[in-house]
Amino acid sequence: MVYQKTLTALLLGAGAGLIDARPAHGWNIARHDHHEHKPKSFTFSFPSSDPTGSIASIPLGTGSAIAPSGTVVVPSGTAIASSASSASIGTTEKKSNSSNSSASTSVAASTAATTASAGCTFTDADSAIASKASCSSIVLSGITVPAETTLDMTDLADGTTVTFEGTTTFEYAEWEGPLISFSGKDITITGASGHVIDGNGAKWWDGEGSNGGVTKPKFFYAHSLTDSTISNLNIQNYPVQCFSINGAENLSVKDVTIDNSAGDETNSDGDALGHNTDAFDVGSSTGVYISGANVKNQDDCLAINSGTDISFTGATCSGGHGISIGSVGGRDDNDVANIYIADSTISDSQNGVRIKTVYDATGSVKNVTYTGITLSGITKYGIVIEQDYENGSPTGTPTDGVPITDLTVSDVTGNVTDDAEEVYILCASGACSDWTWSGVSITGGEASSKCENVPSAASC
Ligand SMILES: *[C@@H]1O[C@H](CO)[C@@H](O)[C@H](O)[C@H]1NC(C)=O
Ligand SMILES: *[C@@H]1O[C@H](CO)[C@@H](O)[C@H](O)[C@H]1NC(C)=O
Ligand SMILES: *[C@@H]1O[C@H](CO)[C@@H](O)[C@H](O)[C@H]1NC(C)=O
Ligand SMILES: *[C@@H]1O[C@H](CO)[C@@H](O)[C@H](O)[C@H]1NC(C)=O
Ligand SMILES: *[C@@H]1O[C@H](CO)[C@@H](O)[C@H](O)[C@H]1NC(C)=O
Repeated sequence: MVYQKTLTALLLGAGAGLIDARPAHGWNIARHDHHEHKPKSFTFSFPSSDPTGSIASIPLGTGSAIAPSGTVVVPSGTAIASSASSASIGTTEKKSNSSNSSASTSVAASTAATTASAGCTFTDADSAIASKASCSSIVLSGITVPAETTLDMTDLADGTTVTFEGTTTFEYAEWEGPLISFSGKDITITGASGHVIDGNGAKWWDGEGSNGGVTKPKFFYAHSLTDSTISNLNIQNYPVQCFSINGAENLSVKDVTIDNSAGDETNSDGDALGHNTDAFDVGSSTGVYISGANVKNQDDCLAINSGTDISFTGATCSGGHGISIGSVGGRDDNDVANIYIADSTISDSQNGVRIKTVYDATGSVKNVTYTGITLSGITKYGIVIEQDYENGSPTGTPTDGVPITDLTVSDVTGNVTDDAEEVYILCASGACSDWTWSGVSITGGEASSKCENVPSAASC
């Protein structure tokens, strides 16, 4: 059924110019409701007699047919491409008008038409989802994504650029999400000046995150993105975890702003409403380069569960749980290697630098560098490295199944609050080795009395 989906998409793209040209006549777009999880496709239908008579002039291509029901059916092997260089595509366009797209739009049928439209601006999610594969440059302009719908930008054509413009927001539903999903090769994802991607998170925030309360949708899947770049996005108020980066190869994430500070508001128990609001969760990826992130949230600024060749540089993290590796262990993929975390500040957070591995699990954490990290107002641990996590909480008993080797901690400076511990290291015997430790100067808190099996290079 893949070809039908593609053809529907192409048809939709081609049809939009006609809609714009003759908005008053004939074409009715039947849209399915959104009470299911899967993105929907459109069905075009029109009266059996076309008042303008121009339907008949649309060259639908050899073998195309108009079904008795009035639904356009395009058979396998036929595709329709728009030749407009900047076609405005969208069946429920609110912004476009006839002067923008009609004059230059023509509809051509070809048995081999796969030419992507150079420019496609969408103002509704369904149109964007339906036509994405035929556009090399997509603008998502002011889209309100319906409830229980993923703004599904997966399987884009190689080389596609997607630009968020205006305000992108999401209607409320209690479901798993994700609200946005991307995949593809050579994909560029960016935001126009003044844009905001607003997750509408306050509707879901109940202080319980993904541990309970209402079911909250995941936010932004960057899965299976290869040789791609995400840059200059401005995100706020996502319900629970923000970016899930998985199966990525050579993905750069540059200058992304993530502001979930509104979730700092507390409930009657004094708990922040936003919870488990990790900014970047990275797993099973090779080559992820995150630079210049500016994050305000209530959980990890970065959490790497597995993967190799990952850097996180020039970040500003505030309000959360610090820059973390782990917890490592207990998943399908439990190896972390070649990580470079540098030149970042962490303020008003529970932890600064953190590595945690899972109790009684296996895996590895190898060749990790933290350098040039400035801390301020850290409330729990300036640096924390522990091998005792179970079900998301420390047990106090470390195990050696996930060794932490070839770790460099250098130039980690700044302060913690007076009841915080400056450095806490809890290793199993022999499970932490080949560490380099220099220029660590953390002030304002207490020395830990709980450290175990600290490698000789480090101090606790
Ligand atoms: C249609 O769009 C053009 C270009 O953006 C604009 O100049 C014109 O005022 C618009 N017309 C209407 C009726 O909205
Ligand atoms: C047509 O729409 C596109 C996308 O919104 C916009 O960039 C372009 O300026 C518009 N052209 C006119 C003539 O309004
Ligand atoms: C990584 O991706 C960028 C584009 O995003 C590309 O220019 C570069 O060549 C890629 N590097 C490798 C090693 O594939
Ligand atoms: C260690 O990781 C760094 C990235 O931080 C990488 O450049 C280096 O090649 C790695 N070393 C080894 C021995 O793999
Ligand atoms: C902690 O460090 C920050 C940033 O350098 C500084 O502004 C703040 O005054 C320090 N706090 C204490 C208690 O020293």
